[in-house]
Order: sequence, then C-alpha cells, then structure tokens
Amino acid sequence: MPLEFPNLTVVNHPLIQHKLTWLRSESTGTDSFRQLLREVSQLLAYEATRALPTALVTIKTPMTTAQLPVISGKKLCLVSILRAGNGMLEGFLDVIPLARVGHIGIERNPDTLEAAMYYFKVPNDLACRQVLMVDPMLATGHSCAAAVARLKDAGCTQITLVCLLAAPDGVRHMHEVHPDVPVFAAALDSHLNEQGYIVPGLGDAGDRLYGTR
Ligand code: URA
Repeated sequence: MPLEFPNLTVVNHPLIQHKLTWLRSESTGTDSFRQLLREVSQLLAYEATRALPTALVTIKTPMTTAQLPVISGKKLCLVSILRAGNGMLEGFLDVIPLARVGHIGIERNPDTLEAAMYYFKVPNDLACRQVLMVDPMLATGHSCAAAVARLKDAGCTQITLVCLLAAPDGVRHMHEVHPDVPVFAAALDSHLNEQGYIVPGLGDAGDRLYGTR
C-alpha cells in the first residue's frame, strides 16, 4: 500500500498487468475487451476477497471425516456501478456465483464532473451483507463516493471498492470521504485530463465494453 494512499491496494500480479496492457490498447476490439475485463475481474475478485473469514465445518471425504474451512461471516453482495461495472460483475460472478447483486446507475455531469444517481436497486438485507462494489474507472471518485454514501444510507457497514484503473484524485477523494472503504485496483495511473479521463487509462470503459463509440 503506497504511504500516500493508505486506502489503496494495487494488485500488480503479472497476469493482471499483461491483460491490462491489452485492455488499454486502442486496437483491442469490443469482444476481446469484454473477455479481458472478465478475466482481470476474476483475478481482482480473488485478491479482494483474500481477508474473508473462514470457519471449520465437518465433512466426509471418500477417505475420512475432516474439519475443513469454508467462508464464514457476512454473506456477500456485489454492487455494479452502471454501466461499465457490469463488465467486471461477470468476472466476479464467475468466482463468487452465490453472491447477491445490486445495481447503481450514476452519471457524471460532463461539465461539473459531479455525480447524479438515476437508479438504485439492491437486496433488502444489505445491512447483513458485505458489499464488493465494482466500477472499472476510479477517476475523480465522486460517483463512487456518492454510491458508497447511498449504500451506507441503506444500512451497509462493510464496503470494498474494486476498480481496474485508479487515478490519484479518485483514491484521495475516497479516502477523504470514506476512509473505512478499502480500494483495490489493477493499476494507479498518472493523472486525469481536462475532461476527467484517466491517463494513460483506456478511454471510456462503457464505450469500449459495449462498442457504443
Ligand atoms: N470513466 C471512463 O470510462 N474512463 C475514464 O478514463 C474515466 C472515467
């Protein structure tokens, strides 16, 4: 964890870095982008769930009876920030297929870069669940911070944010507003440009994922 960003874990595994490079490349088409994002998300899910508690259960193997670990503690809920979060959601569900899923629709105003929420649908028992929120691009951090605030209003006390690329501004903003929320990312990029895009980044994640530009 870099000292300047105590809330951030950069998951710089060679497999992730390799796939991320091809995700960033402008010559990677929609189908490959979707597949790579899914694969990187599986690997990020593995790392973001590393600290989940386990408890022993007694099972019978074909050889003997043994006490062996299973995940314990709060049940998981994945929350996707629309629309690009859905590209990561697929990979997370591959690894955590029993998780419940919520969706938050949030848009940033291109002029002010402020976040406006237009959709919020999560499981009723959110207060009893640990949330893994997925959003590929942590840019200014305003959308993610607003989404986390809304989840906390709904009773959620344990939230982790997992993104693909983080900008220093976004990580700092999350730490200022929600210091209790750990952030996992595949890379910490250099800066935001005047339009609020991450540099070097990968462009608009939603457009890359769905071929809308
Ligand atoms: N959202 C994106 O899709 N890309 C960025 O670079 C920043 C925000």
